[in-house]
Amino acid sequence: MTQKEIRERFIKFFESKGHAVVPSSSLLPTDPSVLFTTAGMQQFKPYYINPAEAPDKNVVSIQKCLRTSDIDEVGDDSHLTFFEMLGNFSFGDYWKKEAIEYAHEFITKEMGLTIDYVSVFQGEEGVPADEESEKIWQSIDPALKIKRAGREDNFWGPTGEEGPCGPTTEIYVNDLEVWNIVFNEYYQSADKQLKPLAIKGIDTGMGLERLAMVVQNKSNIFETDLFSNVFSFALFAGAPDELKSGRIIADHLRASVFLIADGVQPSNKERGYILRKLIRRLLVHSKNIQIPTSVIADFMQKIIIEYGKSHSELIDNQQSIINEFTKEVTKFLLTLDKGLEEFYKKYPGLKAQELVPGQSVKPFVVGQKISGKDAFDLYQSYGFPPEVIKEIAENHLYEFDEEGFNKEMEIHKNISRAGVEKKFGGHGIHPHTITNEVGSAEGNRSFGVGVKEADLSVERREEMKKKTRLHTATHLLDAALRKVLGQELAQAGADITVERLRFDFNFPRKITPEELKQAEDMANEIVKKDLPVTFKEVDLQEALDSGAAGIFKAKYPPRVKVYTVGEDNNWFSREICAGPHVTHTGEIGHITITKEESVSGGNRRIRATVE
Ligand code: SER
Repeated sequence: MTQKEIRERFIKFFESKGHAVVPSSSLLPTDPSVLFTTAGMQQFKPYYINPAEAPDKNVVSIQKCLRTSDIDEVGDDSHLTFFEMLGNFSFGDYWKKEAIEYAHEFITKEMGLTIDYVSVFQGEEGVPADEESEKIWQSIDPALKIKRAGREDNFWGPTGEEGPCGPTTEIYVNDLEVWNIVFNEYYQSADKQLKPLAIKGIDTGMGLERLAMVVQNKSNIFETDLFSNVFSFALFAGAPDELKSGRIIADHLRASVFLIADGVQPSNKERGYILRKLIRRLLVHSKNIQIPTSVIADFMQKIIIEYGKSHSELIDNQQSIINEFTKEVTKFLLTLDKGLEEFYKKYPGLKAQELVPGQSVKPFVVGQKISGKDAFDLYQSYGFPPEVIKEIAENHLYEFDEEGFNKEMEIHKNISRAGVEKKFGGHGIHPHTITNEVGSAEGNRSFGVGVKEADLSVERREEMKKKTRLHTATHLLDAALRKVLGQELAQAGADITVERLRFDFNFPRKITPEELKQAEDMANEIVKKDLPVTFKEVDLQEALDSGAAGIFKAKYPPRVKVYTVGEDNNWFSREICAGPHVTHTGEIGHITITKEESVSGGNRRIRATVE
């Protein structure tokens, strides 16, 4: 039975039982307390509280879901980040008997499967054991094995901070949990108190991939047609660690495609950060098993075509999926190679082991350890997510010094904070407003096993890096505009956010599109040349004599910092500035001027972005 048939049969079955078909909602829910849609019930959450608001009392759906809580399990036989959930729901109409009977009929008759056993809630903390469900199962099949389990396994907690919840009964086939039937009879408030709901509701969820796995009699989800229609066999062959990399690539790529289709863009914030992490992680794994990015691009096309048959949003957004993905890949690949090269220089054993085909996962080799300092450098200089560094290390039998890494992070935070006070606390003459983020408190960061939904300290650091790139880009544009428009151009101020730079300067007329283009091209030429960016602290007069640009009306202290782009005797830009800046112009990325306009005082203003 194909996955397509499974979908059709599920929907038809519940239609025949009086359910209205509701399309999947977006992966991005309207509920602000959750980042992603993690369950089929998400879009129906309000109906359990106010059943009168529900357009239909009973509904059926196949919902796209994303759960990052299982990300470390991805690579085994049955875990995924993105998956689809088949579900039937009732808001105050039917209850346990019907829900259990429908599930039993669908699994045994429609899917032709044998149930191994089911589980019911054993009772805990003021919620009684679910004897009612037990009796219903017994009446359907007296020989059926029924297990009782506690809150961990048989109680569905609310999605987000609060919401409907209740005991569950679960169906196991081939020892795999395939269907979770939730009896929503409580409402859990933010203070974790349970109150009975006025009207009881049903919420069920069955992973399409897991169901396909048992129906198609496969030993893992990646062999079902949900994956085999898209990914080539080679991805799922090889030694265990290679196989794991292949599965991670498949899962993360599918998740990324669906996330972008629903409007997420890689960034350093929340959803965008999760997407970025998925893409970067899959790239590291593709490097691991030597899959070129052109093959990844082919897989992506296939996902769009195959899944586009049931998800038109992939077809509608195909261009932005390709664009966003390619942009992120280009960005990360630039630093991935450089970063790995540095890393391998220090740990030659890593590289040697990486390339041995047929190697299987073994325990760490005693004494092989990646120091926290080296890992931190890789993280800070090349944007490798720490989880990825840990993974590279452990895949190659190296221990990862997590404690050392966290210590380095702490030290770095303190240095940054002190540095900011020193750099920006004193004279305050620099108009570039990129100061606040560097010294912002970053909270206690513990880099543990699970991926946090949004890791603020990484986010801040990434933001800071982006602003630093924009800051150096401002200097390049300033210098380029001078060369195009003449040296009399006077800097009036700049403002940098994580999205863009804004640069004001005094000039008596509108800048033509050709002039803007010329300046932009010139700045990008300098980016391409990857010139060094250095600074010196000198006397103000010496700075001015060396040709450094500054702000006309600014009152500078006697000693200033001068930033130079290029060689000392052959420079492109030189400015009095407190920094910080990138160390080489290549780090900036492509500069695009997005706008030119006039502002008060005869000044012109440009905005630009870096990619
Ligand atoms: N909400 C439950 C789950 O996601 C049943 O749909 O498992």
